[in-house]
Amino acid sequence: MYPEALAALRCPHPPHTALELAAGARYAPDGAVLDGRLRAVDKAARHYPIRDGIVDLLGGARLPLTPAQITNYLPLTAWGYERLWRGHALTLLSGEEFGHARELPLLCRLMQPERGGVYLDVACSNGLYARALAAATHADLLAATPPPATIIGIDHSLPMLRQARAYALQHRLRITYVRASAQALPIAGAAVAGLAMGGSLNEIGDRRAFFAEARRVLEPHGRMVLMHLVQAGDSIGQAVQAVLGTGGIDFPPLATIHAELGQFKPLDETQHGVVVFSAWQPA
Ligand SMILES: C[S@@+](CC[C@H](N)C(=O)[O-])C[C@H]1O[C@@H](n2cnc3c(N)ncnc32)[C@H](O)[C@@H]1O
Repeated sequence: MYPEALAALRCPHPPHTALELAAGARYAPDGAVLDGRLRAVDKAARHYPIRDGIVDLLGGARLPLTPAQITNYLPLTAWGYERLWRGHALTLLSGEEFGHARELPLLCRLMQPERGGVYLDVACSNGLYARALAAATHADLLAATPPPATIIGIDHSLPMLRQARAYALQHRLRITYVRASAQALPIAGAAVAGLAMGGSLNEIGDRRAFFAEARRVLEPHGRMVLMHLVQAGDSIGQAVQAVLGTGGIDFPPLATIHAELGQFKPLDETQHGVVVFSAWQPA
């Protein structure tokens, strides 16, 4: 955790009390808090650990039980996710050439991170979008103090977060990683300039609860950028999606997602096969 993230971090459940760093923390040379504890400023004896640079603000949230989500807790999945799958995923799913060289500039065009402020990558896995946003805002380890933007990656899988932090350090990017649920974001209200979710909407579980949290934490002119998959148009695709559905991955029709996003207004949307990119603002 980098100290500048603390202003945006909160206890994970209402009333979303502010947090402070307890005495005795251990720091890395780049200023990251490696080990220590955050405690609620209301002195309600709530403490949250920081270990190996990652803050655990899950706060007793119920862990998911779908096969897809359990898989994300396996260190082997965390190791292989970007190395073996992520770079090819959109090309395979969209039927178009869609490597990172096309995807990440699209993310930045929709997000406009040059606006500065706090950016979240929610259900971030290995932190691909967090790294793209950090690189775009020069939030590197050598950044001036305070850095131009504060980037926070959130996931509930510790193995994913450990790999994400290792990649961020490898790329010399200053990203705070937090263990938390997408449905109970440990973030202050109206504190966030941008929130990205790449590919996770299909497996997070209760989407409406996540959208309500996204609405709560976004600034009035903040942006939410989603990349997600929708129901296939052909019967073979739908049959494959039905099988994946038994593992906990959901492929709703696009109209269902639109209906669930009632608290947002659309800014942009493009569809490539079953892959949809969109940008939204609080209504
Ligand atoms: C498809 S992967 C994410 C891919 C990543 N965003 C990217 O662009 O490479 C799904 C991730 O969502 C996380 N996840 C699933 N449900 C979650 C929830 N309710 N809260 C937080 N993280 C969740 C999983 O642990 C997993 O790392």
